[in-house]
Amino acid sequence: MSASPDLDARRLELQQRGVSERDLATDPFVQFHQWFDLCVAEGMHEPEAMILSSVNEAGQPSSRHVLLRGVDHGFVFFTNYESQKGVELTEHPQAAICFPWNVIARQVRVAGTVEKVSASESDAYFATRPRGSQIGAWASRQSDVIADRSVLEGWYAEIEARFAGIEVTRPPHWGGFRVLPVEFEFWQGRESRLHDRFRYRHDADQSTGWCVERLSP
Ligand SMILES: Cc1cc2nc3c(=O)[nH]c(=O)nc-3n(C[C@H](O)[C@H](O)[C@H](O)COP(=O)(O)O)c2cc1C
Repeated sequence: MSASPDLDARRLELQQRGVSERDLATDPFVQFHQWFDLCVAEGMHEPEAMILSSVNEAGQPSSRHVLLRGVDHGFVFFTNYESQKGVELTEHPQAAICFPWNVIARQVRVAGTVEKVSASESDAYFATRPRGSQIGAWASRQSDVIADRSVLEGWYAEIEARFAGIEVTRPPHWGGFRVLPVEFEFWQGRESRLHDRFRYRHDADQSTGWCVERLSP
């Protein structure tokens, strides 16, 4: 399947050019922003969509998309704390993220520990959401089994009536998580499967520095 002609051209150019050690920023967050900004500049659809994997008590991983809503010293997204992912990340605060930017032959992986963002951060972000999404955050008991769609619509109508004419406050079960990276990998697709892969890991002495290694594709 083909992306837009512009993205196709960009993908070919990036595949031919490749990535070498001297191209890389010493700070993986800087490197992430460079690649993310290129996706935005190229008009890629939802470059902020990332695949988040959590793990349950049996060690079973599960993955789903979430939207990246901010990058500071970690990767922030928002969700229902009582959903499957919410429970798993609370009980086992480790996660992996993958940005599947395959339309330009790139992928970024992040692995790290997880924390909840502060209530004030969640409040501030919730306040920016459209009213329908705010009501939906109350109405959706995310990951629960429901009999049919009318159940969901009934909950929505109930919440709409409860907040009629007043501001919708953030539900206590809804908020942000931050993935704090211990490892990044930047992958650039190349011809003949001779891809460029670079892994950043914290220095062994746990200082703030990162060591970079090239991995075999
Ligand atoms: C592109 C895309 C972005 C999504 N963004 C979010 C998000 O930011 N937060 C969220 O809770 N669910 C998001 N979802 C829905 C999740 O993928 C998932 O279905 C939902 O969170 C329930 O996951 P869980 O049952 O594993 O907890 C998104 C889905 C897609 C396809």
